[in-house]
Amino acid sequence: MKVVSVVGARPQLVKLAPIAAAFAGTGYEHVIVHTGQHYDVNLSDVFFSGLGIPDPDVHLGIGSGSHGVQTGGVLAAIDPVLAEQQPDWVLVYGDTNSTLAGALSAVKQHLKVAHLEAGLRSFNRRMPEEHNRVLTDHAADLLLAPTEEALRHLANEGLAGRAVLSGDVMVDVCLRVRDAVLAGEHPRPTLPEGIDPEQPYLLATLHRPDNTDDPARLASIIAAMADLPVPVALLAHPRLKARAEAHGLKLDQGAVHTGQPLGYAGLVAAVLGSAGVVTDSGGLQKEAYLLGRACTTLRPETEWVETLAGDWNRLVPDPDALGRPAWIETATRPAPQSEQGTPYGDGRAAERVVRILAERLG
Ligand code: UD1
Repeated sequence: MKVVSVVGARPQLVKLAPIAAAFAGTGYEHVIVHTGQHYDVNLSDVFFSGLGIPDPDVHLGIGSGSHGVQTGGVLAAIDPVLAEQQPDWVLVYGDTNSTLAGALSAVKQHLKVAHLEAGLRSFNRRMPEEHNRVLTDHAADLLLAPTEEALRHLANEGLAGRAVLSGDVMVDVCLRVRDAVLAGEHPRPTLPEGIDPEQPYLLATLHRPDNTDDPARLASIIAAMADLPVPVALLAHPRLKARAEAHGLKLDQGAVHTGQPLGYAGLVAAVLGSAGVVTDSGGLQKEAYLLGRACTTLRPETEWVETLAGDWNRLVPDPDALGRPAWIETATRPAPQSEQGTPYGDGRAAERVVRILAERLG
């Protein structure tokens, strides 16, 4: 069996790590195509080196652009690569523009497509990720759902026949790295200047267009973080930095201390060292949950609804609308004591994915 993985953005590199490791123990051929959607060292290279992922076999070097330019760029560049590789499966990950382009190129060439992290829905049609995941699910031949909820969404859209519950491969990598961090196998992460790792701090990230692109919205979120009574380590995604600069907005205000995005082990260590997480990232909501920290999500909805049970995650669409006392109570609340269960699987999803791909070929 020959499988081509198409990845391009940071969260996909995290999911690629356990998949590449699962392939390494088999006789199957695994080819990695990096679209180059993310190109900063901090968003791309550190994941390959830090998570021990083999270098990409093909790098398309697409980079940034409008949705059309980026998606179209990947589509045009990946066509000849897939035509030459002729894999048994094209494996696409998640919900990015690279995912949609990879899936589209493959189905047009009658190559079988498997979608990892299928069936997630925000039901928010403003999100580019929502268009990408719906279109990819409907194009793909095999839908690898991470949760029961995702499986239900696929069934509701008439896709049950192509769907299978695989569990979430992010659990595999998150728990493995957590254990290595706790065993002292990684150096301490570089937290933003002004953050004392020995004192309580909140870990924050912000990058969704709905939060960053409107100047008034971004200013109100940063002001709300600035008013928190605990220092906030804000790991600034390039999109956040670029938009803040364009809006003439200073990010380092009050409690907020900005720093660079971290590699994966650094991020896991930073979550473990934190008193809680404030974010609009899908991955970080789940990492906070798996690592036992309370999360406050700056969005009106989440795809990872399991994290909401037991108050592990709270949605805050607009901190200003909550009022400052309630916002401060929410963002600084301690981790709940409630049992979580294992809604995201047992940490062996990647092996299962490889097995399912092989079985479905037969
Ligand atoms: C993308 C994904 C999103 C995912 C996120 C993780 C889409 C539609 N969005 O969002 O689902 O959660 O990645 O990070 O695919 N930039 C750099 N250097 C880089 C990459 C981006 O400076 O290495 C800047 C560019 O100014 C670019 C902007 O960030 O225009 C946005 O990048 P893009 O890849 O379009 O989307 P993300 O916001 O990163």
